[in-house]
Amino acid sequence: MRTKYALTDKVVWITGAAGGIGAASAKAIYDAGACLVLTDLTQTSVDALVAGMDCKRVLAQSLDVTDAYQTKSVVNCAVARFGRLDIAIANAAISWSGEPATLISCDEAEFERIVEVDFLGVWRTVKAALPEVLRNRGQIVVTSSIYAFINGMVNAPYAASKAAVESLGRSLRSELAGTGASASVLYPGWTSTPMAKVAFGGHPVATELLNTIMPAPARRPIPPEDVARALVEGLACRAPRIIVPPRWRPVSLLRGVLMLVTDEYIDRSAAMHRLVRRIDILSRSVHARAGNEMEKSVEQSTK
Ligand SMILES: NC(=O)c1ccc[n+]([C@@H]2O[C@H](COP(=O)([O-])OP(=O)(O)OC[C@H]3O[C@@H](n4cnc5c(N)ncnc54)[C@H](O)[C@@H]3O)[C@@H](O)[C@H]2O)c1
Repeated sequence: MRTKYALTDKVVWITGAAGGIGAASAKAIYDAGACLVLTDLTQTSVDALVAGMDCKRVLAQSLDVTDAYQTKSVVNCAVARFGRLDIAIANAAISWSGEPATLISCDEAEFERIVEVDFLGVWRTVKAALPEVLRNRGQIVVTSSIYAFINGMVNAPYAASKAAVESLGRSLRSELAGTGASASVLYPGWTSTPMAKVAFGGHPVATELLNTIMPAPARRPIPPEDVARALVEGLACRAPRIIVPPRWRPVSLLRGVLMLVTDEYIDRSAAMHRLVRRIDILSRSVHARAGNEMEKSVEQSTK
């Protein structure tokens, strides 16, 4: 049996730390006795997060995870400040900034930005942290999602990135086997944070779509503190997979069969087709309006 991995005095880096799951995780890991390196897009957001924490145990720094140079320099700052880095939690991610969209209607640049943050941002975090994590026989956690194994329609760049993150985490765990260091994949289900708002009333059609395909108990969101608790438990035993809430474990286990059933249902369900077409139309009109406004402002500026 492996001995329990204690978080006391470990140095733990969380990206996207000011968000719902990041902030709850930061608090839980701090309470477990670790020192924290907390990064997010703005300095003010991470400064607010560390207010009230012991300043000797925290380092708050702005970081865009798509910037490989800045990401490596955060690791250097962590080592300069605490002498080491033990754990990196690649948590930062985004989804559509406004309306959900289909692959036909979405803005190309937005699609690519989501992949850039959600997949390449994770890769850059992992790459920057690995030398220290290996040296200290520490851990990497990559935050995937249940979207790694459920149908990602109208959320395709996010779902595709989360599937890629899962694959990256599994590969990394295997490559680290025998070194003393390890990697885990975190799979939260819907969680009450700003990111999940669209699915829960923020966009009536997206909400109706979710209600049509998901049984009520499956789509009930959990508080971010539940994810944080599962993460701390997972770190203690270097769990390969942290699936939270546990009701998603059988879905992950049976994903091959369930994929056939759900994709077949979506193929045949006229109600689903209507809802997807409505999202298509709404999202096209939003992009057309944005395009017209852009054309108008270009026209005005050239007059
Ligand atoms: N909320 C859910 O239902 C849910 C479900 C499954 C997985 N997740 C995953 O959990 C993680 C945390 O999500 P959350 O729900 O707390 O969302 P959130 O929106 O509350 O937090 C995300 C954080 O990432 C930061 N961020 C965005 N772009 C960034 C960038 N380029 N560089 C650095 N930071 C950036 C944001 O500023 C924000 O603080 C994400 O990986 C998300 O995909 C969330």
